[in-house]
Amino acid sequence: MSELSGQVAIVTGGASGIGAATVALLAKAGAAVISADIQPANKDAPGRFVRHDVTSEDSWKGLLADVLRSAGRLDILVNNAGITGLAGGWTNIETTSVEQWRQVDGLLRTDGARLLPPEGTGIGFDDLLERLPWQRL
Ligand SMILES: NC(=O)c1ccc[n+]([C@@H]2O[C@H](COP(=O)([O-])OP(=O)(O)OC[C@H]3O[C@@H](n4cnc5c(N)ncnc54)[C@H](O)[C@@H]3O)[C@@H](O)[C@H]2O)c1
Repeated sequence: MSELSGQVAIVTGGASGIGAATVALLAKAGAAVISADIQPANKDAPGRFVRHDVTSEDSWKGLLADVLRSAGRLDILVNNAGITGLAGGWTNIETTSVEQWRQVDGLLRTDGARLLPPEGTGIGFDDLLERLPWQRL
C-alpha cells in the first residue's frame, strides 16, 4: 500500500511549476489529489482540477465544500499558489509600488488553512519532504 493511500490532498497553484510537481508526487504516493488553480491544469496531469482563486474567501468555501462532498474528507493542504510580481514588471524593490507589494504578500497569506476542517492538516514543503518517500518517487 502507498504511503498516502486513502488521503485527500489539495494543492493550490497546482497547474504549473512546483505545484504541478507536487500534485504528481502526491498522486504517485497514493493520495487523491485536487489541483486548485486560476489557470487550467495540463489535461494529462493526475488528480482532479478545480478552478480556484486563493484570494477569494467564497472560492475557498466552494472548494472545501466540493472536496468534502466528493471525497468526504480532507487531510492535506499544500498552500503553494503565489506570484513573484515579475510578470507585472516588478524587477527592483526600489521601484515596486505598495500595491504590487501587497498583491504578492496577500497571495502568500491565503485563508485556506483557517478554513480547513478541524481534522485536516495544513502542511508546508518541509513537512512534505519528511512525509513523502522522495527517493523512491
Ligand atoms: N520557483 C522558485 O524559485 C520559488 C522560490 C521561492 C518561492 N516560490 C514560491 O513557490 C510557489 C510556486 O512557485 P512556482 O515557481 O511553481 O510558480 P508558478 O508561477 O509556476 O506557479 C504558481 C501557480 O500559482 C497559480 N496562481 C497564481 N495566482 C493564483 C490565485 N490567485 N489562485 C490560485 N492559483 C494561483 C498560477 O496560476 C500558477 O499555476 C509560489 O508561491 C512562489 O512564490 C518559488
